[in-house]
Amino acid sequence: MSARTILSFPRGRALLLVTALAATCPAGQAVYAHEEATGVVKERMDTMKQLGKRMKTLKSLVRSSSAYDATRVASLAGEIRGISDQVESGFPAGSIEHPSEALPAIWENWERFVELIDAMKTESEKLGEAARDSDQRAALKQFAALGKTCRGCHTDFRQKKD
Ligand code: HEC
Repeated sequence: MSARTILSFPRGRALLLVTALAATCPAGQAVYAHEEATGVVKERMDTMKQLGKRMKTLKSLVRSSSAYDATRVASLAGEIRGISDQVESGFPAGSIEHPSEALPAIWENWERFVELIDAMKTESEKLGEAARDSDQRAALKQFAALGKTCRGCHTDFRQKKD
């Protein structure tokens, strides 16, 4: 086997692997869906992404034994509280145009939907308070309570990912 074959073989395999991953990776699909979205659907997907980004940072902060930063947690919780104000108006009746994952059940159970938005607001405020008290355990618990409001709504009102 020539040196050239030895070098090029693994490279070919790596390329195949990358191609296969790109074809099946759910994160990749979400990015595509997002790029296709327009209007109010795109706006609310952006809003949700903003929430998701902050929850991800919060998760690593509240769980860390070394990187816990009460001021940052309080400020991220405050940002989530602020962003929550945009959620309700992001769902005008029947807006489920492709590639939206919103379910028609939202408008059949609008009161419940709004209750879940309110719960997200309340729980994010409580997370800010817990962080300001500099109690990491309370912040961790409150982060979980906030995450529950996200999941609670997604379970009932957002299409399941396959
Ligand atoms: C009151 C209901 C509700 C609450 C509360 C809620 N979401 Fe969502 N979320 C939705 C719905 C419905 C969709 C699907 C929107 C669409 O595709 O049109 C969604 C979509 C998303 C998406 C995918 C966005 C995209 O680009 O497709 C992310 C990420 C997300 N939510 C994160 C969060 C996080 C984090 C929280 C909590 C801090 C949260 N959501 C709270 C209803 C909710």
